[in-house]
Amino acid sequence: MSICTLEPGETQTLAPAPTRVPPTIAVIFGATGDLTHRKIVPAFYHLAKNGLLPEDFAIIGFARRPKSDEEFRKDLEEALMEFSHTKPVDEAVWKKVVKHIYYFQGELDDPESYKKLAIKLKEIPEAAKIGENYLFYLATSPNYFGDAAKNLAAAGLASKHDGTRRRLIVEKPFGEDLQSARDLNSTLQSAFDERDIFRIDHYLGKETVQNLIYFRFANSIYEPLWNRIYIDNVQITVAEQVGVESRGGYYDGAGASRDMLQNHLFQLLTLTAMEPPASLDAESIRDEKVKVLRSIPTPSLDFLQKNVVRAQYGGGFINGKTIPAYRQEEKVAHESQTETFVAARFEIDNWRWHGVPFYLRTGKALAAQFTEINIVFKRPPGVLFSAAGNGRMLPNSLRIRIQPNEGIGIIFNVKVPAKAEAESVDMDFLYKSGFDHYLPEAYERLLVDALVGESTLFTRSDEVEQAWRLVDSLHELWKKQPVRDLPLYACGSMGPVESDLLLERNGRSWILPPELKK
Ligand code: BG6
Repeated sequence: MSICTLEPGETQTLAPAPTRVPPTIAVIFGATGDLTHRKIVPAFYHLAKNGLLPEDFAIIGFARRPKSDEEFRKDLEEALMEFSHTKPVDEAVWKKVVKHIYYFQGELDDPESYKKLAIKLKEIPEAAKIGENYLFYLATSPNYFGDAAKNLAAAGLASKHDGTRRRLIVEKPFGEDLQSARDLNSTLQSAFDERDIFRIDHYLGKETVQNLIYFRFANSIYEPLWNRIYIDNVQITVAEQVGVESRGGYYDGAGASRDMLQNHLFQLLTLTAMEPPASLDAESIRDEKVKVLRSIPTPSLDFLQKNVVRAQYGGGFINGKTIPAYRQEEKVAHESQTETFVAARFEIDNWRWHGVPFYLRTGKALAAQFTEINIVFKRPPGVLFSAAGNGRMLPNSLRIRIQPNEGIGIIFNVKVPAKAEAESVDMDFLYKSGFDHYLPEAYERLLVDALVGESTLFTRSDEVEQAWRLVDSLHELWKKQPVRDLPLYACGSMGPVESDLLLERNGRSWILPPELKK
Protein backbone atom coordinates (compact mmCIF):
# COMPACT_ATOMS: atom_id res chain seq x y z
CA MET A 1 0.00 0.00 0.00
CA SER A 2 1.09 3.45 -0.56
CA ILE A 3 2.30 5.71 2.18
CA CYS A 4 -0.59 8.06 2.56
CA THR A 5 -1.90 10.62 4.96
CA LEU A 6 -5.27 9.65 6.27
CA GLU A 7 -8.12 12.04 6.77
CA PRO A 8 -10.01 11.68 10.07
CA GLY A 9 -12.42 8.79 9.80
CA GLU A 10 -10.53 7.16 6.92
CA THR A 11 -8.98 3.80 7.55
CA GLN A 12 -5.82 2.33 6.14
CA THR A 13 -6.36 -0.93 4.37
CA LEU A 14 -4.35 -3.78 3.01
CA ALA A 15 -6.77 -4.07 0.08
CA PRO A 16 -5.64 -2.52 -3.19
CA ALA A 17 -7.71 0.15 -4.88
CA PRO A 18 -8.73 -1.67 -8.08
CA THR A 19 -8.96 1.45 -10.18
CA ARG A 20 -5.28 2.07 -9.70
CA VAL A 21 -4.15 -0.82 -11.90
CA PRO A 22 -2.32 1.05 -14.64
CA PRO A 23 -2.17 0.16 -18.35
CA THR A 24 0.64 -2.37 -18.62
CA ILE A 25 2.19 -4.96 -20.89
CA ALA A 26 2.97 -8.05 -18.85
CA VAL A 27 5.69 -10.35 -20.15
CA ILE A 28 5.70 -13.86 -18.73
CA PHE A 29 9.03 -15.66 -19.02
CA GLY A 30 8.48 -19.41 -18.85
CA ALA A 31 5.21 -19.00 -20.71
CA THR A 32 4.85 -22.65 -21.68
CA GLY A 33 5.44 -23.86 -18.13
CA ASP A 34 3.09 -25.21 -15.50
CA LEU A 35 2.92 -22.09 -13.38
CA THR A 36 1.80 -19.93 -16.29
CA HIS A 37 -0.93 -22.38 -17.22
CA ARG A 38 -2.15 -23.31 -13.76
CA LYS A 39 -1.82 -20.06 -11.87
CA ILE A 40 -0.70 -16.94 -13.69
CA VAL A 41 -3.03 -16.86 -16.68
CA PRO A 42 -6.05 -18.05 -14.65
CA ALA A 43 -5.23 -15.23 -12.22
CA PHE A 44 -5.21 -12.66 -15.05
CA TYR A 45 -8.53 -14.07 -16.24
CA HIS A 46 -10.06 -13.67 -12.76
CA LEU A 47 -8.74 -10.14 -12.48
CA ALA A 48 -10.45 -9.33 -15.77
CA LYS A 49 -13.62 -11.06 -14.60
CA ASN A 50 -13.64 -8.98 -11.45
CA GLY A 51 -13.07 -5.76 -13.36
CA LEU A 52 -9.55 -5.30 -12.04
CA LEU A 53 -7.67 -5.18 -15.34
CA PRO A 54 -7.61 -1.94 -17.25
CA GLU A 55 -8.83 -1.74 -20.84
CA ASP A 56 -5.30 -1.15 -22.06
CA PHE A 57 -3.54 -4.30 -21.14
CA ALA A 58 -1.59 -6.99 -22.97
CA ILE A 59 0.31 -10.15 -22.14
CA ILE A 60 3.32 -11.53 -24.00
CA GLY A 61 4.39 -15.09 -23.28
CA PHE A 62 8.15 -15.58 -23.73
CA ALA A 63 9.41 -19.14 -24.15
CA ARG A 64 11.81 -21.26 -26.17
CA ARG A 65 9.49 -23.48 -28.18
CA PRO A 66 8.24 -22.28 -31.54
CA LYS A 67 4.55 -21.47 -31.33
CA SER A 68 2.13 -19.13 -32.99
CA ASP A 69 -0.04 -16.67 -31.06
CA GLU A 70 -3.01 -18.84 -31.95
CA GLU A 71 -1.43 -22.03 -30.63
CA PHE A 72 -0.37 -20.31 -27.44
CA ARG A 73 -3.86 -18.89 -26.90
CA LYS A 74 -5.40 -22.28 -27.45
CA ASP A 75 -3.05 -23.93 -24.90
CA LEU A 76 -3.89 -21.29 -22.34
CA GLU A 77 -7.59 -21.68 -22.96
CA GLU A 78 -7.42 -25.43 -22.40
CA ALA A 79 -5.48 -24.87 -19.19
CA LEU A 80 -7.95 -22.27 -18.01
CA MET A 81 -10.85 -24.67 -18.54
CA GLU A 82 -9.03 -27.19 -16.40
CA PHE A 83 -7.46 -25.06 -13.68
CA SER A 84 -9.76 -22.08 -13.22
CA HIS A 85 -10.87 -22.12 -9.59
CA THR A 86 -14.27 -20.75 -10.60
CA LYS A 87 -16.32 -22.68 -13.10
CA PRO A 88 -17.76 -22.42 -15.63
CA VAL A 89 -15.28 -20.09 -17.29
CA ASP A 90 -16.96 -16.91 -18.50
CA GLU A 91 -16.23 -17.13 -22.21
CA ALA A 92 -17.04 -13.51 -22.92
CA VAL A 93 -14.42 -12.39 -20.39
CA TRP A 94 -11.85 -14.84 -21.69
CA LYS A 95 -12.44 -13.71 -25.28
CA LYS A 96 -11.70 -10.15 -24.24
CA VAL A 97 -8.51 -11.18 -22.46
CA VAL A 98 -7.19 -13.65 -24.99
CA LYS A 99 -7.12 -11.28 -27.93
CA HIS A 100 -4.47 -9.27 -26.06
CA ILE A 101 -2.20 -12.28 -25.51
CA TYR A 102 0.83 -12.82 -27.77
CA TYR A 103 3.62 -15.32 -28.01
CA PHE A 104 7.29 -14.53 -28.37
CA GLN A 105 9.91 -17.16 -29.07
CA GLY A 106 13.21 -16.44 -27.36
CA GLU A 107 16.10 -17.89 -25.37
CA LEU A 108 16.37 -16.80 -21.75
CA ASP A 109 20.16 -16.63 -21.82
CA ASP A 110 20.46 -14.94 -25.20
CA PRO A 111 20.79 -11.13 -25.10
CA GLU A 112 19.61 -10.93 -28.73
CA SER A 113 16.23 -12.36 -27.77
CA TYR A 114 15.68 -9.48 -25.36
CA LYS A 115 16.58 -6.92 -28.00
CA LYS A 116 13.96 -8.48 -30.25
CA LEU A 117 11.52 -8.52 -27.35
CA ALA A 118 12.09 -4.78 -26.91
CA ILE A 119 11.02 -4.32 -30.54
CA LYS A 120 7.98 -6.57 -30.14
CA LEU A 121 6.95 -4.63 -27.05
CA LYS A 122 6.65 -1.53 -29.20
CA GLU A 123 5.01 -3.27 -32.14
CA ILE A 124 1.97 -4.95 -30.58
CA PRO A 125 -1.17 -2.94 -31.29
CA GLU A 126 -1.75 -2.12 -27.59
CA ALA A 127 1.70 -0.51 -27.27
CA ALA A 128 0.62 2.86 -28.62
CA LYS A 129 -1.79 3.40 -25.74
CA ILE A 130 0.13 1.63 -23.00
CA GLY A 131 3.53 3.14 -23.60
CA GLU A 132 6.63 1.57 -22.08
CA ASN A 133 5.03 0.33 -18.87
CA TYR A 134 6.10 -3.26 -18.34
CA LEU A 135 5.68 -5.99 -15.79
CA PHE A 136 8.18 -8.81 -16.31
CA TYR A 137 7.29 -12.06 -14.62
CA LEU A 138 10.13 -14.58 -14.17
CA ALA A 139 8.20 -17.85 -13.99
CA THR A 140 11.24 -19.78 -15.19
CA SER A 141 13.70 -22.14 -13.63
CA PRO A 142 15.64 -20.11 -11.02
CA ASN A 143 18.90 -20.64 -12.97
CA TYR A 144 17.69 -18.00 -15.39
CA PHE A 145 16.59 -15.27 -12.94
CA GLY A 146 19.95 -13.49 -13.01
CA ASP A 147 20.45 -13.79 -16.77
CA ALA A 148 16.97 -12.53 -17.50
CA ALA A 149 17.41 -9.46 -15.30
CA LYS A 150 20.80 -8.64 -16.84
CA ASN A 151 19.51 -9.14 -20.37
CA LEU A 152 16.45 -6.99 -19.71
CA ALA A 153 18.72 -4.23 -18.47
CA ALA A 154 21.03 -4.57 -21.49
CA ALA A 155 18.04 -4.27 -23.81
CA GLY A 156 16.98 -1.07 -22.04
CA LEU A 157 13.92 -2.71 -20.49
CA ALA A 158 14.77 -2.56 -16.77
CA SER A 159 14.01 0.23 -14.24
CA LYS A 160 14.14 3.68 -15.73
CA HIS A 161 13.65 6.96 -13.99
CA ASP A 162 11.71 8.62 -16.78
CA GLY A 163 8.19 8.09 -15.47
CA THR A 164 7.71 4.66 -17.10
CA ARG A 165 7.01 1.67 -14.87
CA ARG A 166 9.33 -1.33 -15.17
CA ARG A 167 8.63 -4.01 -12.64
CA LEU A 168 10.01 -7.47 -12.11
CA ILE A 169 8.26 -10.38 -10.41
CA VAL A 170 10.59 -13.17 -9.33
CA GLU A 171 9.21 -16.58 -8.50
CA LYS A 172 10.66 -18.83 -5.86
CA PRO A 173 13.03 -20.39 -4.97
CA PHE A 174 15.06 -17.26 -4.40
CA GLY A 175 18.56 -18.70 -4.12
CA GLU A 176 19.55 -22.00 -2.58
CA ASP A 177 21.49 -20.63 0.36
CA LEU A 178 22.52 -17.28 1.81
CA GLN A 179 25.36 -16.70 -0.61
CA SER A 180 23.38 -17.46 -3.76
CA ALA A 181 20.49 -15.31 -2.49
CA ARG A 182 22.91 -12.43 -1.89
CA ASP A 183 24.39 -12.86 -5.37
CA LEU A 184 20.95 -12.94 -6.93
CA ASN A 185 19.86 -9.88 -4.97
CA SER A 186 22.85 -7.96 -6.18
CA THR A 187 22.34 -9.02 -9.81
CA LEU A 188 18.65 -8.08 -9.73
CA GLN A 189 19.38 -4.82 -7.97
CA SER A 190 21.95 -3.89 -10.58
CA ALA A 191 19.13 -3.99 -13.16
CA PHE A 192 15.99 -3.00 -11.22
CA ASP A 193 15.42 -0.71 -8.25
CA GLU A 194 14.58 -2.68 -5.12
CA ARG A 195 11.11 -1.09 -5.08
CA ASP A 196 10.51 -2.52 -8.56
CA ILE A 197 11.48 -6.08 -7.55
CA PHE A 198 8.63 -8.28 -6.35
CA ARG A 199 9.83 -11.56 -4.83
CA ILE A 200 6.95 -13.99 -4.66
CA ASP A 201 6.02 -15.95 -1.62
CA HIS A 202 2.53 -16.98 -2.56
CA TYR A 203 1.61 -17.56 1.08
CA LEU A 204 1.55 -13.80 1.52
CA GLY A 205 -1.18 -13.58 -1.09
CA LYS A 206 -3.48 -15.84 0.93
CA GLU A 207 -6.32 -13.96 2.58
CA THR A 208 -5.84 -15.75 5.89
CA VAL A 209 -2.16 -14.85 5.97
CA GLN A 210 -2.98 -11.20 5.35
CA ASN A 211 -5.56 -11.52 8.10
CA LEU A 212 -2.79 -12.15 10.64
CA ILE A 213 -2.05 -8.44 10.65
CA TYR A 214 -5.72 -7.55 11.04
CA PHE A 215 -6.34 -10.15 13.68
CA ARG A 216 -3.39 -9.06 15.76
CA PHE A 217 -3.61 -5.31 15.43
CA ALA A 218 -7.28 -4.55 14.77
CA ASN A 219 -8.25 -6.12 18.11
CA SER A 220 -7.27 -4.96 21.54
CA ILE A 221 -7.95 -8.17 23.43
CA TYR A 222 -5.00 -10.21 22.21
CA GLU A 223 -2.14 -7.75 22.26
CA PRO A 224 -1.75 -7.68 26.08
CA LEU A 225 -1.48 -11.49 26.04
CA TRP A 226 0.74 -11.77 22.97
CA ASN A 227 4.04 -12.25 24.76
CA ARG A 228 6.24 -14.49 26.88
CA ILE A 229 4.25 -13.83 30.06
CA TYR A 230 1.14 -15.57 28.73
CA ILE A 231 2.24 -17.63 25.78
CA ASP A 232 3.90 -20.97 26.38
CA ASN A 233 4.79 -21.84 22.80
CA VAL A 234 3.81 -21.21 19.20
CA GLN A 235 3.32 -24.02 16.69
CA ILE A 236 3.30 -23.52 12.95
CA THR A 237 2.44 -26.47 10.74
CA VAL A 238 2.24 -26.69 6.98
CA ALA A 239 1.21 -30.28 6.31
CA GLU A 240 0.70 -31.68 2.83
CA GLN A 241 -0.84 -34.99 1.90
CA VAL A 242 0.67 -35.03 -1.57
CA GLY A 243 4.11 -36.42 -2.24
CA VAL A 244 6.54 -34.69 -4.59
CA GLU A 245 4.63 -36.02 -7.62
CA SER A 246 6.28 -34.84 -10.83
CA ARG A 247 8.58 -32.29 -9.14
CA GLY A 248 11.26 -34.72 -7.98
CA GLY A 249 13.92 -33.11 -10.19
CA TYR A 250 13.63 -29.78 -8.42
CA TYR A 251 12.65 -31.06 -4.98
CA ASP A 252 15.54 -33.46 -4.59
CA GLY A 253 17.93 -30.52 -4.66
CA ALA A 254 15.79 -28.48 -2.28
CA GLY A 255 14.07 -30.57 0.38
CA ALA A 256 11.49 -29.36 2.85
CA SER A 257 13.89 -26.89 4.48
CA ARG A 258 14.50 -24.92 1.28
CA ASP A 259 11.16 -25.55 -0.40
CA MET A 260 8.91 -24.58 2.52
CA LEU A 261 10.70 -23.61 5.73
CA GLN A 262 12.89 -20.84 4.30
CA ASN A 263 9.92 -19.03 2.80
CA HIS A 264 6.37 -19.96 3.77
CA LEU A 265 6.97 -21.03 7.36
CA PHE A 266 9.28 -18.15 8.20
CA GLN A 267 6.77 -15.75 6.68
CA LEU A 268 4.07 -17.14 8.96
CA LEU A 269 6.44 -16.88 11.89
CA THR A 270 7.33 -13.24 11.24
CA LEU A 271 3.70 -12.18 10.89
CA THR A 272 2.84 -13.97 14.12
CA ALA A 273 5.74 -12.56 16.08
CA MET A 274 6.29 -9.06 14.70
CA GLU A 275 5.80 -5.86 16.68
CA PRO A 276 2.99 -3.53 15.64
CA PRO A 277 4.24 -1.57 12.62
CA ALA A 278 4.27 2.23 12.69
CA SER A 279 1.86 2.21 9.73
CA LEU A 280 0.52 -0.22 7.18
CA ASP A 281 2.90 0.81 4.43
CA ALA A 282 5.14 -1.83 2.91
CA GLU A 283 8.39 -0.68 4.48
CA SER A 284 7.00 -0.37 8.01
CA ILE A 285 5.57 -3.88 7.87
CA ARG A 286 8.65 -5.41 6.29
CA ASP A 287 10.94 -3.62 8.77
CA GLU A 288 9.10 -5.31 11.62
CA LYS A 289 9.20 -8.70 9.93
CA VAL A 290 12.94 -8.46 9.34
CA LYS A 291 13.46 -7.48 12.98
CA VAL A 292 11.89 -10.77 14.03
CA LEU A 293 14.28 -12.78 11.87
CA ARG A 294 17.24 -10.75 13.05
CA SER A 295 16.22 -11.52 16.62
CA ILE A 296 16.65 -15.24 16.04
CA PRO A 297 20.31 -15.85 16.80
CA THR A 298 22.02 -18.25 14.41
CA PRO A 299 21.46 -21.47 16.36
CA SER A 300 24.57 -23.30 17.53
CA LEU A 301 25.17 -26.77 16.14
CA ASP A 302 24.57 -28.19 19.60
CA PHE A 303 21.17 -26.45 19.82
CA LEU A 304 20.23 -27.63 16.35
CA GLN A 305 21.23 -31.16 17.05
CA LYS A 306 18.68 -31.27 19.86
CA ASN A 307 16.04 -29.20 18.16
CA VAL A 308 15.84 -30.14 14.50
CA VAL A 309 14.29 -33.27 13.08
CA ARG A 310 14.40 -34.35 9.46
CA ALA A 311 13.02 -37.42 7.75
CA GLN A 312 11.81 -38.86 4.47
CA TYR A 313 8.52 -40.52 3.62
CA GLY A 314 8.20 -44.20 2.93
CA GLY A 315 5.67 -45.55 0.48
CA GLY A 316 2.03 -46.27 1.25
CA PHE A 317 -1.51 -45.15 0.63
CA ILE A 318 -3.21 -41.86 1.29
CA ASN A 319 -6.93 -41.56 0.58
CA GLY A 320 -6.76 -44.76 -1.42
CA LYS A 321 -3.98 -43.39 -3.63
CA THR A 322 -0.59 -45.12 -3.80
CA ILE A 323 2.32 -42.91 -2.86
CA PRO A 324 5.72 -44.36 -3.72
CA ALA A 325 8.49 -44.05 -1.17
CA TYR A 326 10.28 -40.74 -1.75
CA ARG A 327 13.32 -42.47 -3.21
CA GLN A 328 11.14 -44.25 -5.72
CA GLU A 329 9.61 -41.02 -6.97
CA GLU A 330 10.32 -39.91 -10.52
CA LYS A 331 13.63 -38.02 -10.92
CA VAL A 332 14.66 -38.60 -7.29
CA ALA A 333 18.07 -40.19 -6.63
CA HIS A 334 17.76 -43.73 -5.28
CA GLU A 335 20.15 -42.91 -2.45
CA SER A 336 18.67 -39.48 -1.85
CA GLN A 337 19.20 -37.97 1.61
CA THR A 338 16.80 -35.11 0.93
CA GLU A 339 14.37 -34.42 3.74
CA THR A 340 10.67 -34.38 2.95
CA PHE A 341 9.84 -33.51 6.55
CA VAL A 342 11.45 -31.03 8.86
CA ALA A 343 10.51 -29.91 12.35
CA ALA A 344 12.53 -27.39 14.27
CA ARG A 345 12.41 -25.25 17.36
CA PHE A 346 13.52 -21.63 17.06
CA GLU A 347 13.86 -18.97 19.72
CA ILE A 348 13.26 -15.29 19.14
CA ASP A 349 15.53 -13.49 21.50
CA ASN A 350 13.70 -10.22 22.07
CA TRP A 351 11.71 -8.69 24.92
CA ARG A 352 8.39 -10.06 23.71
CA TRP A 353 9.42 -13.62 23.00
CA HIS A 354 12.52 -14.50 25.02
CA GLY A 355 12.11 -18.10 26.21
CA VAL A 356 9.05 -18.92 24.07
CA PRO A 357 9.76 -21.77 21.68
CA PHE A 358 8.46 -21.47 18.13
CA TYR A 359 7.97 -24.97 16.77
CA LEU A 360 7.82 -25.17 12.99
CA ARG A 361 7.12 -28.28 10.97
CA THR A 362 6.33 -29.11 7.41
CA GLY A 363 6.26 -32.24 5.33
CA LYS A 364 4.87 -34.10 2.37
CA ALA A 365 2.82 -37.31 2.34
CA LEU A 366 1.40 -36.55 5.78
CA ALA A 367 -1.89 -37.54 7.37
CA ALA A 368 -3.76 -34.41 6.36
CA GLN A 369 -3.49 -31.28 4.27
CA PHE A 370 -3.58 -28.25 6.54
CA THR A 371 -1.75 -25.09 7.49
CA GLU A 372 -2.25 -23.82 11.01
CA ILE A 373 -0.71 -21.54 13.55
CA ASN A 374 -1.40 -22.47 17.13
CA ILE A 375 -0.71 -19.98 19.88
CA VAL A 376 -0.57 -22.06 23.03
CA PHE A 377 -1.08 -20.18 26.28
CA LYS A 378 0.39 -21.10 29.64
CA ARG A 379 -1.64 -23.44 31.80
CA PRO A 380 -3.35 -22.01 34.84
CA PRO A 381 -1.91 -23.06 38.20
CA GLY A 382 -3.05 -26.62 38.86
CA VAL A 383 -4.32 -26.29 42.40
CA LEU A 384 -8.01 -25.83 41.59
CA PHE A 385 -8.78 -27.95 38.58
CA SER A 386 -6.00 -30.38 37.88
CA ALA A 387 -8.06 -33.26 39.28
CA ALA A 388 -11.27 -32.04 37.69
CA GLY A 389 -9.57 -31.90 34.31
CA ASN A 390 -8.91 -35.60 34.33
CA GLY A 391 -6.50 -35.21 31.43
CA ARG A 392 -9.17 -33.58 29.28
CA MET A 393 -8.16 -30.01 29.99
CA LEU A 394 -5.99 -28.66 27.23
CA PRO A 395 -4.01 -25.45 27.53
CA ASN A 396 -5.88 -22.45 26.10
CA SER A 397 -4.90 -21.97 22.55
CA LEU A 398 -5.75 -19.92 19.54
CA ARG A 399 -5.92 -21.96 16.37
CA ILE A 400 -5.44 -19.82 13.29
CA ARG A 401 -6.38 -21.95 10.32
CA ILE A 402 -4.69 -20.68 7.21
CA GLN A 403 -6.12 -23.46 5.03
CA PRO A 404 -8.42 -25.31 4.55
CA ASN A 405 -11.50 -24.42 6.68
CA GLU A 406 -10.06 -20.92 6.88
CA GLY A 407 -10.88 -19.41 10.22
CA ILE A 408 -9.90 -19.02 13.84
CA GLY A 409 -10.76 -21.14 16.84
CA ILE A 410 -10.15 -20.67 20.51
CA ILE A 411 -9.86 -23.56 22.92
CA PHE A 412 -10.94 -23.06 26.48
CA ASN A 413 -12.08 -25.19 29.37
CA VAL A 414 -15.62 -25.40 30.70
CA LYS A 415 -17.47 -27.37 33.32
CA VAL A 416 -19.03 -30.57 32.06
CA PRO A 417 -22.76 -30.33 32.83
CA ALA A 418 -23.85 -32.23 35.94
CA LYS A 419 -20.30 -33.31 36.73
CA ALA A 420 -17.49 -31.82 38.79
CA GLU A 421 -15.24 -32.07 35.76
CA ALA A 422 -13.70 -29.71 33.26
CA GLU A 423 -13.26 -30.30 29.57
CA SER A 424 -11.82 -28.36 26.64
CA VAL A 425 -14.13 -26.96 24.00
CA ASP A 426 -13.57 -25.11 20.78
CA MET A 427 -15.21 -21.83 19.78
CA ASP A 428 -14.92 -21.30 16.10
CA PHE A 429 -15.05 -18.60 13.44
CA LEU A 430 -15.21 -19.87 9.86
CA TYR A 431 -14.54 -17.51 6.99
CA LYS A 432 -16.96 -19.43 4.81
CA SER A 433 -19.91 -18.89 7.06
CA GLY A 434 -18.80 -15.45 8.28
CA PHE A 435 -18.53 -13.87 4.85
CA ASP A 436 -20.34 -14.39 1.62
CA HIS A 437 -17.51 -13.03 -0.45
CA TYR A 438 -15.36 -14.13 -3.35
CA LEU A 439 -12.02 -15.33 -1.95
CA PRO A 440 -9.37 -14.47 -4.53
CA GLU A 441 -6.52 -16.88 -5.18
CA ALA A 442 -3.15 -15.77 -3.84
CA TYR A 443 -1.80 -15.10 -7.34
CA GLU A 444 -4.65 -12.70 -8.17
CA ARG A 445 -3.85 -10.53 -5.20
CA LEU A 446 -0.11 -10.67 -5.84
CA LEU A 447 -0.46 -9.75 -9.52
CA VAL A 448 -2.62 -6.73 -8.72
CA ASP A 449 -0.19 -5.56 -6.09
CA ALA A 450 2.81 -5.89 -8.40
CA LEU A 451 0.89 -4.03 -11.12
CA VAL A 452 0.19 -1.13 -8.79
CA GLY A 453 3.69 -1.23 -7.28
CA GLU A 454 2.55 -2.30 -3.81
CA SER A 455 5.28 -4.35 -2.09
CA THR A 456 3.85 -5.35 1.29
CA LEU A 457 3.02 -8.88 0.22
CA PHE A 458 6.41 -9.51 -1.36
CA THR A 459 9.63 -10.33 0.42
CA ARG A 460 12.38 -7.76 0.66
CA SER A 461 16.01 -8.63 -0.03
CA ASP A 462 17.05 -8.50 3.63
CA GLU A 463 14.11 -10.66 4.69
CA VAL A 464 15.07 -13.38 2.23
CA GLU A 465 18.70 -13.27 3.33
CA GLN A 466 17.84 -13.48 7.03
CA ALA A 467 15.68 -16.53 6.41
CA TRP A 468 18.51 -18.16 4.46
CA ARG A 469 20.92 -17.49 7.34
CA LEU A 470 18.75 -19.71 9.52
CA VAL A 471 18.18 -22.43 6.96
CA ASP A 472 21.90 -22.46 6.17
CA SER A 473 22.62 -23.26 9.81
CA LEU A 474 20.51 -26.42 9.49
CA HIS A 475 22.41 -27.46 6.40
CA GLU A 476 25.70 -26.81 8.09
CA LEU A 477 24.69 -29.24 10.82
CA TRP A 478 23.57 -31.84 8.31
CA LYS A 479 26.77 -31.48 6.37
CA LYS A 480 28.81 -32.00 9.53
CA GLN A 481 26.78 -34.99 10.58
CA PRO A 482 25.87 -36.84 7.43
CA VAL A 483 23.59 -39.80 7.96
CA ARG A 484 23.74 -43.01 6.03
CA ASP A 485 20.01 -43.19 5.89
CA LEU A 486 17.54 -40.54 6.86
CA PRO A 487 14.84 -41.80 9.21
CA LEU A 488 11.69 -42.77 7.34
CA TYR A 489 8.22 -41.82 8.42
CA ALA A 490 5.11 -43.67 7.46
CA CYS A 491 3.28 -42.14 4.57
CA GLY A 492 -0.02 -40.80 5.95
CA SER A 493 1.39 -40.19 9.44
CA MET A 494 2.29 -36.84 11.01
CA GLY A 495 6.02 -37.39 10.56
CA PRO A 496 8.61 -39.33 12.56
CA VAL A 497 8.28 -39.96 16.27
CA GLU A 498 11.26 -37.65 16.87
CA SER A 499 9.04 -34.75 15.86
CA ASP A 500 6.67 -35.57 18.73
CA LEU A 501 9.58 -36.04 21.11
CA LEU A 502 10.87 -32.58 20.22
CA LEU A 503 7.90 -31.20 22.18
CA GLU A 504 7.22 -34.04 24.57
CA ARG A 505 10.55 -33.79 26.30
CA ASN A 506 9.44 -30.35 27.50
CA GLY A 507 6.00 -31.55 28.49
CA ARG A 508 4.31 -30.25 25.33
CA SER A 509 2.63 -31.78 22.34
CA TRP A 510 1.65 -30.75 18.83
CA ILE A 511 -1.90 -29.49 18.64
CA LEU A 512 -3.72 -31.55 16.05
CA PRO A 513 -6.66 -30.47 13.94
CA PRO A 514 -9.91 -32.10 15.14
CA GLU A 515 -10.00 -34.56 12.22
CA LEU A 516 -6.71 -36.09 13.36
CA LYS A 517 -7.53 -36.40 17.02
CA LYS A 518 -7.84 -39.97 18.19
C1 BG6 B 1 5.27 -24.32 -2.96
C2 BG6 B 1 6.17 -25.50 -2.78
O1 BG6 B 1 5.97 -23.13 -2.75
O2 BG6 B 1 4.20 -24.40 -2.05
C3 BG6 B 1 5.40 -26.79 -2.94
O3 BG6 B 1 7.21 -25.44 -3.74
C4 BG6 B 1 4.20 -26.81 -2.05
O4 BG6 B 1 6.23 -27.90 -2.69
C5 BG6 B 1 3.39 -25.54 -2.20
O5 BG6 B 1 3.42 -27.94 -2.38
C6 BG6 B 1 2.30 -25.46 -1.16
O6 BG6 B 1 1.48 -24.37 -1.44
P1 BG6 B 1 -0.05 -24.37 -1.02
O7 BG6 B 1 -0.54 -23.02 -1.41
O8 BG6 B 1 -0.70 -25.48 -1.77
O9 BG6 B 1 -0.06 -24.61 0.47
